[in-house]
Amino acid sequence: MLAGKRILIVIGGGIAAYKVLEVIRRLKERGATVRVILTRSAKEFVTPITVGALSGETVFSELFNPAEEQDIGHIVLSRDTDLILVAPATANLIARMANGLADELATASLLAAAAPIIACPAMNQRMWAHPATQRNAARLLADGVRFIGPAEGRMAERGEAGVGRLSEPMDIVAGVEAFFAAAATPKPLAGRHVLVTSGPTIEPIDPVRFITNRSSGKQGHAVAAAAARAGARVTLVSGPVSIADPAGVDVVRVETALEMLEAVFAALPADAAVMAAAVSDWRPAGVAPQKIKKAAGDPPPLAFVENPDILASLGHSDRRPKVVVGFAAETTDVETNAGRKLQAKGADCIVANDVSPEGGVFGGDRNSVRIVSAAGIDAWPTLSKDEVAERLIALIAGRLA
Ligand code: CTP
Repeated sequence: MLAGKRILIVIGGGIAAYKVLEVIRRLKERGATVRVILTRSAKEFVTPITVGALSGETVFSELFNPAEEQDIGHIVLSRDTDLILVAPATANLIARMANGLADELATASLLAAAAPIIACPAMNQRMWAHPATQRNAARLLADGVRFIGPAEGRMAERGEAGVGRLSEPMDIVAGVEAFFAAAATPKPLAGRHVLVTSGPTIEPIDPVRFITNRSSGKQGHAVAAAAARAGARVTLVSGPVSIADPAGVDVVRVETALEMLEAVFAALPADAAVMAAAVSDWRPAGVAPQKIKKAAGDPPPLAFVENPDILASLGHSDRRPKVVVGFAAETTDVETNAGRKLQAKGADCIVANDVSPEGGVFGGDRNSVRIVSAAGIDAWPTLSKDEVAERLIALIAGRLA
């Protein structure tokens, strides 16, 4: 995986610098060429001799060292590389990067860099939690810098613990491998915008009560993640779920079906839409402005009105994405019902799944689906929700191509 990759490591001045020696060794073992720039203060923690012996390459540190500049200029150093790893990325180094300082070879090279950058923060937990560091890290993230860690655990300072430790060397190596693996994956949806709905909606009865359903959001979130991996810009409109946001996706959080409808249309135009949300078909006719009290005696009657069908609204809209995919949650006559929904909702295909309780689909990690389209019915084997998502994205990419 790392054979032939050229990695430049910028070592910052922190106690954890010694752990980076192990990272150099492991990356080299895997076939990478590793060159190193030490910040001035890094030399207080590791020596150029040790680093040079491990990397087998000249170690750089001085911006205005004629010998080094002749050998290889600082611009070339950061250009002639596939990845730059900053480890340990100290609070000071992160602050300098976030502000575009070029006050020594390490920072000048980072500013001149064309290659992707991964920063591995390491500092005292209070320094990491400080709003200034958080601001700087968020700035770097917005600039496209990726992060590995920081990890949680004991600090160099006696008795202190928290989030701020440098990730373990093998975790950093795994992160680097994952980066190159992702970079090597084809990006069939590059330049496309994919809209995904996910999770349940909740419909309020009064300020404290609501009705909802058992959707976990796992399948919709998996689709959004797969679309992002395929290179798409992804907008994920999600009802309340307890799972994490997928990486690299814009998440719009909503609660009710009406909010979801508005968010979906606000996100247009899109090239493709996958409506995986379990939208509540009805909402209570009126939301009681105050908590309904039980003192009155009889249970309160609940009247419902129908929610708009978001998929159908989109499928029949003049702003319709080129490819529209719906889901059909059925407990009986799965194919017949899905076929009917395909027509009624103006979708290109319906992912039909049997959600009868025996199947364990709701909240579970696996899914057994049939793809219903004008071309007929394609039954997929039982797959993980991630695999279903991958296949679905491949299908969409094919239709968009
Ligand atoms: N859907 C939607 N808006 C609604 C209801 C459903 O966008 N108000 C979408 C879902 O996201 C899904 C598809 O329609 O992609 C089918 O949802 P499903 O619950 O299976 O079908 P319903 O139309 O609600 O029909 P029924 O409940 O009668 O099976």
